[in-house]
Amino acid sequence: MKHLITIFESIHPCGVSRLEEFADVRFALGVSRDEQLRLSSESSIIIIKSVVQVNKELLSNSPNLRIVARAGTGTDNIDLEETKRLGIKVLTVPEGNTISAAEFTVMQILFSCRRLLEAITFVQNNDYRRQLLEGRELQNMSIGLVGLGNVGMAVAERLSVFGCKIIGWDPSPKDVNKFTSLGGSLVSSFDEMLPKIDILSFHARLTKDNYHMLSKPQFNLVKENLLLINNARAGLINDVDLLEAINDGKVSTAFLDVIEPEPPFDLDSDQHTYNHKLLNNKNIIITPHIGASTIDAQKRISLDLASQIKETIVLS
Ligand code: MLT
Repeated sequence: MKHLITIFESIHPCGVSRLEEFADVRFALGVSRDEQLRLSSESSIIIIKSVVQVNKELLSNSPNLRIVARAGTGTDNIDLEETKRLGIKVLTVPEGNTISAAEFTVMQILFSCRRLLEAITFVQNNDYRRQLLEGRELQNMSIGLVGLGNVGMAVAERLSVFGCKIIGWDPSPKDVNKFTSLGGSLVSSFDEMLPKIDILSFHARLTKDNYHMLSKPQFNLVKENLLLINNARAGLINDVDLLEAINDGKVSTAFLDVIEPEPPFDLDSDQHTYNHKLLNNKNIIITPHIGASTIDAQKRISLDLASQIKETIVLS
């Protein structure tokens, strides 16, 4: 019998044609939770990204499910204990978006140091007073990286040529030698990093241990005017405390590629009523989780995932 694959979140079409060679493939983008549960109950394989919650509710409703294929890295929306208990295979593409995510972070840092958004707005308003737009050089700034996995390390690698000071925090760093050879220095706690840095960037997985790791007590430790970047998971930062830190001048700008709950990526603007308390604050620049959104990364992820799915089916 042919496998039925339901794709709940957009992936690059190149992997889809590969899947169609051996399975029936259907799309269910942006559907309601009830529809997710109904369609998942009929599927042997589901493809998701970060929005669909693969929790006990969905898994207990999906008797035919054999593979949960995550088109990307993070698995915080998947109940891994439950999939393991049920013998459902979880596939991910851990290195597919490393370069895109790292380049995106460097872009945000430079963009902010040179006040690009303000400069663009000035010119749009026919205002050319460049003396009001003086930025900062990245050289000699101190940057704190939380998480030294694939993306954190790739960011450190790219930043190392700018002559800035790179400070890293990771409870279990993979490759300390590589990080120090890039000129990075490790601290032994997150709190230790905070008073030393001008820029803070998150590259960590979300776990129950690091949920809201940046909250009021930590904001109290940072220097004024911190540039905050979160391209990892929204749950790492306490939203309410962030708004207070912005009001208090602790944080000058926050670039957030992730907010919780995730916005409806697969719906047109007239198909939803999504809103969020962090939207419409002039010091918070929100992007729709696009750190990995390059053609290069998305093709790589889609093809890799399709190959993994095929291999898993053949081997089982
Ligand atoms: C990931 O976990 O792969 C990234 O956050 C990108 C995504 O979820 O699409």
